[in-house]
Amino acid sequence: MAVNLAVKVGTLLLKNPVMLASGCCGYALEMGEFFDLSLLGGYCLKGLCAGGSEGNPPPRLCETPGGLINSIGLQNIGIEEFLREKAPKLRRVNSVMVANFYGHSVEEYAAAAEKLQAEPCIAALEMNISCPNVKTGGIAFGTDPKLVHEVTAACRKATRKPLWVKLTPNVTDITETARAAEAGGADALSCINTYPAMAIDVEKRAFKINTRSGGLSGPAIKPLAVRAVHLVSKAVKIPVVGIGGISTWADAVEFMLAGAAAVQVGTALFSNPNAPLEILKGMEEYCIRHGFKDVADLVGAARDFERPDCNLPSAVIVTGEKVRK
Ligand SMILES: Cc1cc2nc3c(=O)[nH]c(=O)nc-3n(C[C@H](O)[C@H](O)[C@H](O)COP(=O)(O)O)c2cc1C
Repeated sequence: MAVNLAVKVGTLLLKNPVMLASGCCGYALEMGEFFDLSLLGGYCLKGLCAGGSEGNPPPRLCETPGGLINSIGLQNIGIEEFLREKAPKLRRVNSVMVANFYGHSVEEYAAAAEKLQAEPCIAALEMNISCPNVKTGGIAFGTDPKLVHEVTAACRKATRKPLWVKLTPNVTDITETARAAEAGGADALSCINTYPAMAIDVEKRAFKINTRSGGLSGPAIKPLAVRAVHLVSKAVKIPVVGIGGISTWADAVEFMLAGAAAVQVGTALFSNPNAPLEILKGMEEYCIRHGFKDVADLVGAARDFERPDCNLPSAVIVTGEKVRK
């Protein structure tokens, strides 16, 4: 049985649902020595800002059980250098390129979106709203629904490209910020960014990373991210791209069942750069095994698990004590 692996994220057609997550694949060209980028559905570039940034001083990475804490501080070469040096080479890659970007004020965000607008190889923009707003004493944009709406609306005006808003999980109710981004004009939501975390070296009695707190990623956050994707995809009408601890095909399928239209692989790339292709192969085999002709039929299927008339191929319905095929 041939499986249709193509998926749509809003108006964008991806040849398959597997993408690379921002910050974990540099400017994508680096991944070329491991596999052909054009085999993937898409890839997200390291977060860019106008003028670039040196990021935080080391140590800025720390491994934890099942996870990684990072405090890179959004180091990047800047939009200008990216457009001059990297973009011309990336134009040859036949895959959906998403430019992740950020700013420190609404104006900086909008200016960044406008600067990226002209580059033809950028298929969509992914706005990282986990950044501090310098005008409101450093509170992250993504934690306040009003600010999320404001910054999304400003960027919506600044670009005609599809605008994906990358949600932070560092909120009490992620559906509020998700709805605010949708109302502001987002075309899709990337769900989720890292969780705030800390690690202490007990022998040295010192923080393991320079900035004390950082963002936790990797398998440790996967169940939290799956829940976030499920809640968000039920709360909005726009597509959700699932991210957080995906390292196997089963993880990717889980995110799609929870409601993700596509998935991004991040931290897993550091230990297994071939993970995206292994995930893709495993997803296809899963679809064959379970009779799905179209991988897009997995999207949000978890919503139907409890429906008595659920007729997903070989779905197992668990209702209280009863288990029916
Ligand atoms: C080293 C590192 C750098 C990251 N840089 C960015 C970034 O620049 N912009 C962004 O939106 N997310 C960034 N992220 C977050 C990832 O894209 C992803 O949302 C998160 O790590 C959860 O997915 P994972 O568990 O598969 O890594 C970064 C993550 C890591 C580990």
